[in-house]
Amino acid sequence: MAKWDSKLKLLLLIHLLLSDLAFGKAPFPQSNPNPSIATKTSQSAQVESQEVEDALSAAHELVSNLSTSLQGHLDLQSNASCAELANGGWRGSAFSQELLGLTMVPVLVSAGCLFEAQDLVMQLYADLGQNDTHDFLDDIVMLIKRGEKRESAHANGFQTIRKSQHHLQAVLFNINQLAGVDERAAVYNGKVWQCKRWLMVKASNLQGQATEQIKPLSLEEAKQACRRMGIQCAGLRRDSDSYRIILRPGSRIVPSSNSDSWIQDCKFGSARWRRNGVPRHRCVNENEKRVYKVVEWIPAVSTLYNLGTAVYYASVNCYGTAKERAIFTTVDLSTDALMAMTGGTAGVAGYALGAGLKTGVKAGIKYMLNNMKEEEDLLMNQNSWVNGGLTD
Ligand SMILES: *[C@@H]1O[C@H](CO)[C@@H](O)[C@H](O)[C@H]1NC(C)=O
Ligand SMILES: *[C@@H]1O[C@H](CO)[C@@H](O)[C@H](O)[C@H]1NC(C)=O
Ligand SMILES: *[C@@H]1O[C@H](CO)[C@@H](O)[C@H](O)[C@H]1NC(C)=O
Repeated sequence: MAKWDSKLKLLLLIHLLLSDLAFGKAPFPQSNPNPSIATKTSQSAQVESQEVEDALSAAHELVSNLSTSLQGHLDLQSNASCAELANGGWRGSAFSQELLGLTMVPVLVSAGCLFEAQDLVMQLYADLGQNDTHDFLDDIVMLIKRGEKRESAHANGFQTIRKSQHHLQAVLFNINQLAGVDERAAVYNGKVWQCKRWLMVKASNLQGQATEQIKPLSLEEAKQACRRMGIQCAGLRRDSDSYRIILRPGSRIVPSSNSDSWIQDCKFGSARWRRNGVPRHRCVNENEKRVYKVVEWIPAVSTLYNLGTAVYYASVNCYGTAKERAIFTTVDLSTDALMAMTGGTAGVAGYALGAGLKTGVKAGIKYMLNNMKEEEDLLMNQNSWVNGGLTD
């Protein structure tokens, strides 16, 4: 009896959460004087609760399938509780939320936290759709199993990082764009940002909206004009012999064999930031760190988790931690693949704010998983780019 009660409560809770999502947080009608509308409402509520039950049973089946399929594969050395694992402390940002959600399902299942795993799956159904959630999780489980057999790539990875510092900076630029830094920049309107450094990124293309120009600009002229614009200017793109100024909102950088780009590196003016008494985010998130300790050695999961938390930390202005996590991601994924993936996702997200965001996040995650599935070193396939965004 008690068991049934808790299941019923869960059903109701999920039902409320889903209708909250579907109706854009509209308040529930208190009463309805019009009987025909009232009947309709109760009919649609019936259909809806049927859908919720179907989704719930699919989620239940998926979790028990995963539990069987992961048996004996992940030996989690952890005392973290299910609640700690499920609430990693990183909730909030759209892209990281979905990537981290996918990443944590197999971890929760392996830790025996089946209830929390099912809860997370229901959330992913709402965010990504049932079929894509299943496809992504299949890929992740396959990567976990394959990763166990491979030698550690750490030694190689760190060498690559040293060689491609500037490409790492390009990845960080994209991560900041994904974290919505350009929107915050618009709010602060350049006042607390200081743009002092230029980063040249070879074999890359800075995409985004270019400013109107009367005449072709030399590199020096373009740099000066960009600097005068402050945070609103993302950087420069070379167009044969002259240079274009690219605006920050919606911009992103992607690998390209035949061009170079310059990024204007902007940071918060920290002295002023502090004097104004704006609270600085503490960049130690104890809850997240506990989860990190559990996942950091799991193949594939650690890569996805590091990228997800890099975007999360950037979204709360913890750039040091964000950079560290981005570097760990490049141990398993080349900087170019990572630049392409983050750039593609940021591009779609930036251009199609709102409705297009989900498609962008999905295309980005799909691209990343496909790249991880390829054994060879990753090369950017130019054909997968259409209108500056990733195709599926
Ligand atoms: C679970 O596994 C069964 C048997 O392999 C399969 O038919 C079913 O589609 C799977 N369900 C989900 C939700 O993955
Ligand atoms: C878990 O707890 C036990 C005993 O409390 C302790 O010996 C062990 O080191 C802990 N393991 C981890 C991974 O923290
Ligand atoms: C999900 O997959 C099933 C079977 O593969 C298909 O019938 C269904 O139309 C798909 N749903 C969506 C929304 O794509």
